[in-house]
Amino acid sequence: MIDAAGAAQALEALHEEIRGCVACPLSRTRIQAVPGDGPVTARIMAVGEAPGETEDRTGKPFVGSAGQLLTRLLESVGLQRSDLYICNVLKCRPPANRDPMPEEVEACAHFLDAQVELIRPDVILLLGRHALQRILPGAAGISRSHGTRIRDRGRVYVPLYHPAAALYQGSLLETLQDDMRRVRGYLDEAEAERAHAAAETAMSDAEAEAVAAAHEQLTLF
Ligand code: URA
Repeated sequence: MIDAAGAAQALEALHEEIRGCVACPLSRTRIQAVPGDGPVTARIMAVGEAPGETEDRTGKPFVGSAGQLLTRLLESVGLQRSDLYICNVLKCRPPANRDPMPEEVEACAHFLDAQVELIRPDVILLLGRHALQRILPGAAGISRSHGTRIRDRGRVYVPLYHPAAALYQGSLLETLQDDMRRVRGYLDEAEAERAHAAAETAMSDAEAEAVAAAHEQLTLF
């Protein structure tokens, strides 16, 4: 496993690769690619759909109105945006913000997989149906699964309505706020589980050392 400095370097190299990607026709209509943003050490990752107009102009994910709502939702449960690594299924804006096409999702897939591998978060928030479908293709749809904790291959996933959906449909805002409070609880539990696992490892290391020391004592006589 690489250390944090190595992972940060690898993440920056991946971002550079994404910025130069011409694997699909979206590279011809974008202003710039939007790789992702946040610390490589983030314990929580959020995956959205694709950059919109503001993201295409700035090169940063979730900085338009949906992004501002996401920031407020995070802050309402005591999280800062800078606590998260945020990225999208697609790294380039689809013209007029149309839905991602399967071949575009496929062309970008290895980038998202590499981001998850480098960040290794405890919890991944899946913002909207495209992120849910891309990461957990067998899961129930967003209207059934939002706010639930899905454990899969050692990671915790939480599907959430996309913040843009709550901007268009005000009734979803309260649901999103409730779900975000659940996320806070899931995160606290994931933290506690990690601390417990670290304590157990430290304990068994100490035990192994004690056994080795006793063995050494015995062999002296
Ligand atoms: N919507 C997304 O899914 N991603 C962004 O980065 C912005 C809006």
